[in-house]
Amino acid sequence: MTRTLLVTGGGGVGKTTVAAALGVTAAKAGMRTLVVTVDPAQRLATALGLAGLGHEPEPHADLENLWVAMLDSGASWRAVAERHAAPDVAERLARNEFFLAAAEHFPASQAYAAADQAATYAQAKAWDLVVVDTPPSGGGIDFFTAPAQMADLVGGRLLRWITGGPLPGRRFFYERAARPILRIADTVLGSDLLERVTEFLLDLRTTYDGVAQRGREIERVLKDASILVVTTTNPAPLHEAIRFYRTLPDLASTPKAVVFNRSLPDSWADPPKRLRADVREIVDRWSAETVRQRDFRDEFSARYGATVVSIPLTPRPPTDLEGLAELAVSASGMPWADLGIGFSQ
Ligand SMILES: Nc1ncnc2c1ncn2[C@@H]1O[C@H](COP(=O)(O)OP(=O)(O)O)[C@@H](O)[C@H]1O
Ligand SMILES: [Mg+2]
Repeated sequence: MTRTLLVTGGGGVGKTTVAAALGVTAAKAGMRTLVVTVDPAQRLATALGLAGLGHEPEPHADLENLWVAMLDSGASWRAVAERHAAPDVAERLARNEFFLAAAEHFPASQAYAAADQAATYAQAKAWDLVVVDTPPSGGGIDFFTAPAQMADLVGGRLLRWITGGPLPGRRFFYERAARPILRIADTVLGSDLLERVTEFLLDLRTTYDGVAQRGREIERVLKDASILVVTTTNPAPLHEAIRFYRTLPDLASTPKAVVFNRSLPDSWADPPKRLRADVREIVDRWSAETVRQRDFRDEFSARYGATVVSIPLTPRPPTDLEGLAELAVSASGMPWADLGIGFSQ
């Protein structure tokens, strides 16, 4: 069985790094692991063997059992058209500028593509574990809501209202009645604008059954997945993490844990007493910050009943396999068994 682990949270908190660290750890523990990543920093991409930036999973050259792929958000709508429309319709959609504009502007596009791709790998049964680094849009919530949003868009009231009742009849109506009128309007406009808009909407609507069914499949994969919410104690990501805990139970399973990344080590809360006055000043401030971070973690755990993990701030960002593995080892409170990763500290 393939387990899916979704690493989510606000922007810049360390999702990509944590996803990579967990993937490396699982692979080292002998699990066939795929890390699906978004936008890794150059040195991390190199460490993950992503020099070629492939969207297809590639085995890592230096670590057995590890595969890495990039999320391909650009392909989303094209893939929707190819998968869910008849070939001639798909081809027409791919050339239609309204389709291209919708693909670019639909806010959940990227998240939908990511969720779709993640579900495809989870369903491929080729790996024991698929770790997904989710895209940052909407603080990560989009990733979970996108399948339904997509189905709403192509099957929703607006499109139904515009394109009308049963499709074959509607197209007949369009060909016989609407099209000649639109043509007249287009003559006035000096283009075939309205005709192309209508054609786009009718074509898009034919994808509804497929999109709705795929949306349900994706949602099933997301519901079965384990979720880690990554945050720091900064207000913005913390706010996103809280939103996750409040919203997620409706969308997917409850997160397995909230990871406070870049935490200061607890030992800094009680620094040595005998220090030079100027050093004392610095150390006291770091001690106060350490206590503040610990209070945030304690409060989060008490309020949301969350399993709290802390991963220390490392002096240098982890950018090689060894550094990633060490980062995972230094995590305190990680529910490894719950995540299905056969590894213990
Ligand atoms: N525990 C850590 N200690 C030190 N630096 C970290 C740690 N985790 C992440 N970083 C660094 O923080 C930055 C943001 O991390 P990244 O994983 O890209 O975040 P996200 O994917 O959430 O945007 C990167 O420069 C990364 O190397
Ligand atoms: Mg990232």
